[in-house]
Amino acid sequence: MPYNTFRVDVKAREVIEYDSIEDLRQTLLSHKGEVILPVGEGSNLLFTRDFDGLILLSRMCRARALKETQDEVWIEAESGLKLDDLIAQLVDMNLTGMENLSHIPGTVGASAVQNVGAYGVEAKDVIEQVHTIHVETAEPRTFTNEECRFGYRDSIFKNELKGQYIVTSVVYKLKKDGELKLDYGNLRSALEGIAKPTAQDVREAVIAVRKTKLPEVSELGSAGSFFKNPVIKESLFLALQQQYPDIPHYAINSPTAPAVLQRSGHKIPAAWLIEQCGWKGKMVGGAQCYDKQPLVLVNRNNATPQDIIDLAQAICTSVQLKFGITISPEVNYIE
Ligand code: EPU
Repeated sequence: MPYNTFRVDVKAREVIEYDSIEDLRQTLLSHKGEVILPVGEGSNLLFTRDFDGLILLSRMCRARALKETQDEVWIEAESGLKLDDLIAQLVDMNLTGMENLSHIPGTVGASAVQNVGAYGVEAKDVIEQVHTIHVETAEPRTFTNEECRFGYRDSIFKNELKGQYIVTSVVYKLKKDGELKLDYGNLRSALEGIAKPTAQDVREAVIAVRKTKLPEVSELGSAGSFFKNPVIKESLFLALQQQYPDIPHYAINSPTAPAVLQRSGHKIPAAWLIEQCGWKGKMVGGAQCYDKQPLVLVNRNNATPQDIIDLAQAICTSVQLKFGITISPEVNYIE
């Protein structure tokens, strides 16, 4: 199946493309009761076996400005548009807010489901509304940002409403020539020498940094980061810091994090934990823990879904045993 960036060799029972909301509604009504999976670029999915259901692919790829004020513009983008193509257009128009998300594989639809994020920005920071169609009834429903219950690589569409709605378009609110977010670790150093960076400079720097660390999905199968960065309690963090004084960590300041974590949580880069466990570059079957960024698992040599599952499981077990920390996949396993 060409619809997964891991490039595992699995088959789906049926694949249907749609290029309008009406087309999607008709397809849903004529496939009632079937197992349905909307797929964007398949860049965050792991098919664990052949998929006995219907895959729906959005070919709705337009974007338009809905309204604007002196400082802001509301852009509605259709679900099938590649996120990076949208960002390239926005940066050209000097509309700011999404430039840090440059070069992330995936579509506009996935940006809302997965709340994609990079270099200090998450999709939720700019999403105003998400337009959807209900899978059972084919009726439209619009979600506000709040109703999407966005979290770290998370939304209501991955939880309570999993499988129930298909995103048809997303409304983003962008700033005209707004303030740029440059504070994430190596982004600032990548911009060194540029006195007053523009959104275009940030986009180029982000692309350059990503290219040094992350595999190009067109060249090497992967789904980006395979695991989420875990958040641990203060007590465990202090105990680990005694043993590993260099343990990297970030304070939690996400307003959506549970209150207890906001006071005392520490986010630990899973890449560091995995590297400490000796997994960087190691293989299980055809699957490899990527040698430039161990948070990423890659399909190095005709990996089967089981190779990737086994590698992921072995990494989780090592991290649990060595650090007492549970890491969990950010990739969606499709059974
Ligand atoms: N690190 C290591 N060894 C390595 C690489 C990294 O120990 O080989 C440690 C270092 O301490 C480093 C830290 O990990 O400072 C953070 O690394 P990096 O900046 O590469 O970010 P990340 O936390 O590993 C997250 C996202 C990426 C996103 C980057 C940049 C998650 C699960 N991943 O990775 O998102 O591009 O930050 O913002 O939050 C994705 O979701 O698919 C994805 C690629």
